[in-house]
Amino acid sequence: MARGHFISFEGGEGAGKSTQTERLANALEDRSIPCLATREPGGSPGAESIRELLVRGEVGRWDPMSEALLHFAARRDHVMTVIEPALDEGTWVVCDRYTDSTIAYQGYGQGLEISIIEDLHRQTVGNLWPDATIILDIAVFQGLDRIVSRGGETHRYEKMEIDFHMRLREGFLKIARQNSKRCVVVDAARSSDAVHDSIMTLIAQRFGM
Ligand SMILES: Nc1ncnc2c1ncn2[C@@H]1O[C@H](COP(=O)(O)OP(=O)(O)O)[C@@H](O)[C@H]1O
Ligand SMILES: [Mg+2]
Repeated sequence: MARGHFISFEGGEGAGKSTQTERLANALEDRSIPCLATREPGGSPGAESIRELLVRGEVGRWDPMSEALLHFAARRDHVMTVIEPALDEGTWVVCDRYTDSTIAYQGYGQGLEISIIEDLHRQTVGNLWPDATIILDIAVFQGLDRIVSRGGETHRYEKMEIDFHMRLREGFLKIARQNSKRCVVVDAARSSDAVHDSIMTLIAQRFGM
């Protein structure tokens, strides 16, 4: 059986990653493509437990290296127990965040050296990178406004300072430039329907469905 495709969504808070992950997974299922929607940090029972340590509590509770190690501990569990088995059985995996988020948040956002994060990726999950990464780009304030309108509990990353969110956005755009075969930037300031249509067009082009 052909291996499934691995697609990740990236971008700052309120860009629409969770919304578009679900919409893409539903659209693939409508086309009878076996598909799994998942998220990071989390996506497996062990990684969801680690997620609690990352998204709750004081903004400054971890130094950047500890935080990166927690993300990779969660990621390794998620990859080993969920992502790899799904891809092996031919299921497409659509993941709300992956290693690019660690590079953007702990690297560009919190100042950890990017090469250290890339080393941690190799040591924990080897060569597993998405076949396609969709970077949802939106002005920082517009994204954060959506989070406020969404209501409910705000998590630890959403509470970080504005300059941090600005560095994230620039970081994701830099990641896109440096990985131009894998990554595509999508204007996420538009309606959810318009963003979804763009995503379906580029997924169809890339994977020929
Ligand atoms: N294109 C859009 N236009 C307006 N609101 C949106 C759009 N996409 C998502 N939203 C809303 O904005 C909020 C944040 O979206 P979400 O998908 O959770 O973003 P993320 O996962 O990137 O933080 C949610 O309330 C969602 O319903
Ligand atoms: Mg989300």
